[in-house]
Amino acid sequence: MRTETPPTIRLQDYRPSDHLIDTVDLDIRLDRQASRMTAVLAVRPNPAGVPIAPLVLDGDELTLLSLRLDGEPLPAEAYTATPSGLTLHAPPQRPFRLTLETQVDPTANTKLMGLYRSSGVYCTQCEADGFRRITYFLDRPDILSVYTTRIEASRDEAPVLLGNGNPVETGEVPGTDRHYAIWQDPHPKPAYLFAIVGGRLGHVGRSFTTSEGRAVALGVYVEPGKEARAEYALDAVARSMAWDELVFGRAYDLDVFNVVAVSDFNMGAMENKGLNIFNDKYVLASPETATDADYANIEAIIAHEYFHNWSGNRVTCRDWFQLCLKEGLTVFRDQEFSSDMRSRAVHRIGEVRTLRARQFPEDAGPLAHPVRPKQYAEINNFYTATVYEKGAEIVRMLKALIGDSAFRKGMDRYFSDNDGTAATVEDFLQAFATETGRDLAHFAQWYERPGTPRIAVSGHYDATAKTYRLNIRQTRPGAGADAPPLVIPVALGLVGPDGPLDVTHERLRDGVFVLDEAEDGLTFENIAAPPVPSLFRDFSAPVRVEIALSDAERLTLLRHDTDAFNRWESAQRVALRIVIEGARSGSETLDGAAGLADALAAFVDQEALRDPAFAALMLALPSEGEVAGEIGANIDPDAIFSARRRLRQGIAARLRDRLVSVRDRLAEPAGASFSPDAASAGRRAFRNAALDLIAVADPEHGATLAREQIASATTMTDRLAGLATLSLIPGEAREAELAAFAALYTAEPLVLDKWFAIQAAIPEDDTIARIGRLQRHPAFSMTNPNRVRSLIGVFSLANPTQFNRPDGAGYALVAETVLALDKRNPQIAARLLTAFGSWRQLEPVRRVAAEGALRGIAGAGGLSRDVVDIAGRSLA
Ligand code: PHE
Ligand code: ZN
Repeated sequence: MRTETPPTIRLQDYRPSDHLIDTVDLDIRLDRQASRMTAVLAVRPNPAGVPIAPLVLDGDELTLLSLRLDGEPLPAEAYTATPSGLTLHAPPQRPFRLTLETQVDPTANTKLMGLYRSSGVYCTQCEADGFRRITYFLDRPDILSVYTTRIEASRDEAPVLLGNGNPVETGEVPGTDRHYAIWQDPHPKPAYLFAIVGGRLGHVGRSFTTSEGRAVALGVYVEPGKEARAEYALDAVARSMAWDELVFGRAYDLDVFNVVAVSDFNMGAMENKGLNIFNDKYVLASPETATDADYANIEAIIAHEYFHNWSGNRVTCRDWFQLCLKEGLTVFRDQEFSSDMRSRAVHRIGEVRTLRARQFPEDAGPLAHPVRPKQYAEINNFYTATVYEKGAEIVRMLKALIGDSAFRKGMDRYFSDNDGTAATVEDFLQAFATETGRDLAHFAQWYERPGTPRIAVSGHYDATAKTYRLNIRQTRPGAGADAPPLVIPVALGLVGPDGPLDVTHERLRDGVFVLDEAEDGLTFENIAAPPVPSLFRDFSAPVRVEIALSDAERLTLLRHDTDAFNRWESAQRVALRIVIEGARSGSETLDGAAGLADALAAFVDQEALRDPAFAALMLALPSEGEVAGEIGANIDPDAIFSARRRLRQGIAARLRDRLVSVRDRLAEPAGASFSPDAASAGRRAFRNAALDLIAVADPEHGATLAREQIASATTMTDRLAGLATLSLIPGEAREAELAAFAALYTAEPLVLDKWFAIQAAIPEDDTIARIGRLQRHPAFSMTNPNRVRSLIGVFSLANPTQFNRPDGAGYALVAETVLALDKRNPQIAARLLTAFGSWRQLEPVRRVAAEGALRGIAGAGGLSRDVVDIAGRSLA
C-alpha cells in the first residue's frame, strides 16, 4: 500500500479570500481531554472577492458541537461540517456573526500543533496552520482580525492564564474551582500568531520603557523552581527591545511582553503577538547547565522572536510563499543584533558555517527550492535553511548594494507603507526601489532561483604594464546557459606580499564590485608586484568561489588581509584542498599540511591571546559535510574522515606545545565568577579547541587533561567540552565519565540531551549499538522532539561515517525512527528524513543503500503528507 501524493499549492494560483473576518471573540475552557472553544467570528464579504461564494472554513481534527449565524441555529442543509472543514453553502451577502462551538483533546495532541499539553502546561502552536485545530477558520495569513480571548481553567491546574495582547480582566467562576482571564489584542493579526498558555508556571519580570514612553511589563515564564534560569532570557528581551529602537527605529506596541518556555516544542520558538512561546532549551540557562553556545542561542532566538513583532507581525505575509519575507529578514535582524552584542567577525564566521553546513547541501540536492518557493505540498516542510539563512543573505546583499543609509530608509519605508497589512516580497523590494530610485527587478531573481551560484575568478598580473586584471564569471549548477545572471555584490580588495594594498577603481563602491552579468572584470593600475585578490570579503554573497590560488597565496591572506572573514576563509580553503586531495589519494602524507600547520602556529602565537574566540575558529577544520559538499559526487565519507583526521593529527603535532601553554595562560583565575559574555566565552572556546587538538596529538595526555577539566569544571561549557574530547578516545575512562555525567544530571533533561548528542556523534562502528541502548535509557523519549533531535537527529547530521555506513545500518536506524515517529508527530519525522537529502552524491554502494531506505519509507502505507512530500521530492 502506497500513500497518495498530496495536492500541490501554487503561488501563481493565489487569490484573495472571498470573505474577511474582522474580529474574533474566543472563549476557551481548558480541560485535559475535552477543551471547549466558543468562537464568535465577525465575517463580511471581501469587496475584492467573488460576490456569491460559499464560505469555506479550514478545520483539522475538529469536532463541531454547535453552529449559529447571527445567534440563530442553522438548518442542517445550510452547511457541511467535517473534522477538516466547514462550508456554509450560501452565506449572507452582508456582514454576519458566526458562532462556532468546537471541542478538542489537548492530551491526545501529539503533533504539537493547535492546543496541546506539555508537562501539564496547556499551550498552543498555530504557525503555519494550527489554528484550524482549535476552531474552524479562514486559516491563511492574509486574514487579519482583532482578537479578544477569554481563557478559563481550573485555578489549581492552571493558575497562570496568558493570551495575546493586553490583559483586561481576571476573575473567579462562581461556585466552581475555576477562574478566567480576558486578553485583548488591538493589533489585527493572522491566526497563525494566536496563542494562549495555561498552567502552573514560575516567572521573572521587569519593566521596560519604550522610546515612545510606554511602560512594558516583561515576563519570562518557566517551570516553577527554574526562575533563576530565566534571568538571562529576560535580560536578552530588554536588550533586544533597546537595540530594535536604536538600529531600526522600532518600538514595542503593547503593555506586556511575555515569553513562555515549554518542554515539548517542534521548533525553536514562536513569535505569537505579545506571547512568544519557546522551546525551553532556548530560554533556560545557568552556568551549571548551559554552555556558552546555549547562551548565545538564547540571546539570538529571544531577539529573533522579539524582532518578529515588526518583521512578521505588524507587517505579515500575504501567503506562505512569502515566508522569507518575515523569516529571512528577521534572521538578518537577529544576526545584526548578535554581531553588535558580540564579536562581529566571529559571529559572521559562525553564520557562514551554518549556511554551508545546512543551506549549501540543501541547495545542491533534491530538496533545493527558491528562497520564495513557487509551490508546496506541505508548508511545514518549507521552514528551511534556504528560506531562513539564504533569505537573510539576500537582505544582507541588498544592504551591501544600496549602502547603509539607503538600507535604513528603505526599511523605514517598508514598515510604514505596509504596517497592518499582509505583504509580499515585491512590497519589500518596492520600498527600497522607491527610496533609492533604483530598479531592483534584476536583484529580485535571488528569490526565484534555487542553487548556489559558482563564481569562477581568474587574475592576471602584467609586470610590464603594472596592471592586475580580475575576470569574474558566474554560473548556476542546473541552470541552462540562457538563465539570467544574478546581481552579486563582490566585496574585494588586493593584498600584496607585505600587506593590504590601498586600491581604488571606478567600479568599486565602498570596496564592492557589482557583478550583474554572466561575466565581467576589472583592471587595477599601478600595482607594483603580483597581488593576491581577497574576494567576497565578509562573505558578501552566498556563492561558491573557484580561483586558482596556491597555498602560499592563500596563506598570505591569512597573514595580511584586513578582512577577518577572509583570513579565516583562506586557511579553510587550504585545509579543504588538502583534505579533498587526501581523500582522493588515500595517501598517508598530505601535501601542504606542514605549510598550513606552520601558518597556524604563527597565527596562534600572534593572535590566540589577543582574540581567542577568533583563534578557536581558526583551529577548527572544515567539517566532513563541508568537504563532501565541495567534492560533490561519488562521496566516500570514510575517506573524507580519515584524510581529515590525518590533517588534524599533523596540525596537532605541530601546535601541541604552544596549545598547552596558551591554554594555561587563558585559564580562568581561581574563584573568578562566571560571565557568559563573548570575551569570556571566547577564552573558553580557545581552551577547549586546544584541548581537543592536544588529545589528537597525544590521546593519553588529552584524556588526562579532559578528565581533570571534567572534575574541576565550574561551567557546563568546560565540563561538556572535556566530555566531548574524551568521547573520541575509546576506553574505560570514557565510559566511566559518561556514566558519571548521566548520574549527575538525571533530573536535567536539557543536559542529558547534550549527553545523548555527544554519544550519537561518536565515529565508531559500535555507535549504532550504543544508540540502541540509549533509546532504552529512562531519560530518552520518542515523544519529546528535543530528545529525538539529540539522539537520532545528531546521529544523522553530525556522524557522517556511521550514518552512511556501507552496510546501510545507519540509514535503517533513521528510517525506522522516521516511520515510528510519523504516527505521532509528522513534522519531526519529516525533518529527520531530510538527512537523506544528499544521497545521490554518495559512492555507489552507499547510494544504493540510502535509496533503498528512502524507497522503503516512500512505499509504506498510512504516511503523513509531511513525510510523503519529503520522501517523494528526495527520490524525484
Ligand atoms: N516562526 C518561528 C520562527 O521564528 C518558527 C516556527 C515555525 C515555529 C512553525 C513553530 C512553527 O522562526
Ligand atoms: Zn522566525
